[in-house]
Amino acid sequence: MKYKAIVFDLDGVICHTDKYHYLAWKALADKLGIYFDEVINNRLRGVSRMESLEIILERNTGAPLSDEEKVKYATEKNDLYRESLMQMSTADLSDEVKDTLDKLRAMGLKLAIGSSSKNAPLILNRIGLPDYFDAISDGNNIENSKPHPEVFLKAAEYLGLEPEECLVVEDAKAGLEAAIAGGMDCAAIGDAVSSGLGTYNLATFADLLTAVE
Ligand code: BG6
Ligand code: MG
Repeated sequence: MKYKAIVFDLDGVICHTDKYHYLAWKALADKLGIYFDEVINNRLRGVSRMESLEIILERNTGAPLSDEEKVKYATEKNDLYRESLMQMSTADLSDEVKDTLDKLRAMGLKLAIGSSSKNAPLILNRIGLPDYFDAISDGNNIENSKPHPEVFLKAAEYLGLEPEECLVVEDAKAGLEAAIAGGMDCAAIGDAVSSGLGTYNLATFADLLTAVE
């Protein structure tokens, strides 16, 4: 086996909370009269909440926002986003993802989460995986979000493994950059494939089963 563990990004990899992030940011951008679309949204993948707001504000043609206003609007976005999360259930975890996770575990691999999100524990609860992973490294235990490698290095540390023993799975270019900066191989899925940075490119989540062999 090439690896001892797999560290999964959460939003856009394990489940499709990325669409709820987009809708909540879009509602805020519309309210502020700022242009925002799915192409700009792809730059927010893997990036922290406040850094995401800064990317959206690059298109702000109105008065610059104060730090207080930025915190207020980021909180507003998060409140709307969490309303979507509360609608999620175990039906938002696909059979393909769950079966693949179970098979990877049966192959002897440790499984961890490496997410920039402070909402990761809530999401894992909603999709029925609160205690499934061997380690969770998320937005609550890091100072620097992706492309900084901290979240993945912490995941490896929590697993008691060296970075090079772990494979990262990511839908974000910033996430692939973080894995590479941390000395880890990475598998790109979804939007991240086009960056060309992945050690592997996955057409489907189940393709991981052959990538790790
Ligand atoms: C990442 C998402 O997983 O978490 C980003 O890809 C998001 O889009 C980041 O900004 C932070 O999430 P949260 O839930 O803490 O606002
Ligand atoms: Mg993601």
